[in-house]
Amino acid sequence: MKDHNIKEVIKDRYGKIARGEQTFCCPTCGPTTTDQCLAVGYTAEDLKLVPEMAILGVGCGNPTALADLKTGETVLDLGSGAGIDVFLAANKVGNGGKVIGVDMTEDMVARGRQLAQEHGFGNVEFRQGDIEHLPVDSAYVDVIISNCVINLTPDKLASFKEIHRVLRPGGRILIADLVTAGELPPDVRASAAAWADCLAGAMPKASYLETIRSAGFAEVTVVSESPYETPGMDERLQGQIISVKVRAVNGQ
Ligand SMILES: C[S@@+](CC[C@H](N)C(=O)[O-])C[C@H]1O[C@@H](n2cnc3c(N)ncnc32)[C@H](O)[C@@H]1O
Repeated sequence: MKDHNIKEVIKDRYGKIARGEQTFCCPTCGPTTTDQCLAVGYTAEDLKLVPEMAILGVGCGNPTALADLKTGETVLDLGSGAGIDVFLAANKVGNGGKVIGVDMTEDMVARGRQLAQEHGFGNVEFRQGDIEHLPVDSAYVDVIISNCVINLTPDKLASFKEIHRVLRPGGRILIADLVTAGELPPDVRASAAAWADCLAGAMPKASYLETIRSAGFAEVTVVSESPYETPGMDERLQGQIISVKVRAVNGQ
């Protein structure tokens, strides 16, 4: 499958979710989006702090809970969707800080912008763009977060090099993502639908961490990890998918 085709499938899937034509993406389905969010690490208090329409139930972690965000920091959220983590981060960095969400799906960006305006978030901005070619100046941000997105990018090394470029020296990343315990069956790897489900593009854990190091990051640490299984998941994948939260620093 060509990278271009994968991205078109992903934009189609997440465009439908942004427009409310489809409910869930990654196979983390619970009875409701709220249940899904609670299952991956958000608290009920977190969810009260964000516009309800930003809660899509498509993440695999709660990166702002682990990123140790401080007042005044500039934060970038990669693959921001409708902005759940952008709005949580905005509450933490305050009016003296800033949060930028980047997403390649036009209707996700539109939904995030509309919610920011309707709910009076003056310290957030949504930009349309591709993680492999970020629309952000070099060394511009203090912290980068991301929630279940890097697995969707065809070229992980290019993604992490871009992440390194836009992060200031000494800045940190906190990435929630899916990785694999081993190799996935070839038919799963070749499935466009499984890519959009956040499965086919997931890398083996050791290669994923090595890719982050290769992009120039130091202190690459798995903050937490847990098996990732969902009702209805292909039984060949059971025990193969891991939800990880990775922290690293731009040591330059
Ligand atoms: C699984 S959803 C997660 C959304 C959000 N982080 C959340 O937790 O609600 C993945 C998002 O990443 C976006 N995305 C996927 N690949 C991307 C890329 N290469 N560049 C920018 N955005 C991308 C999709 O459009 C989608 O909105």
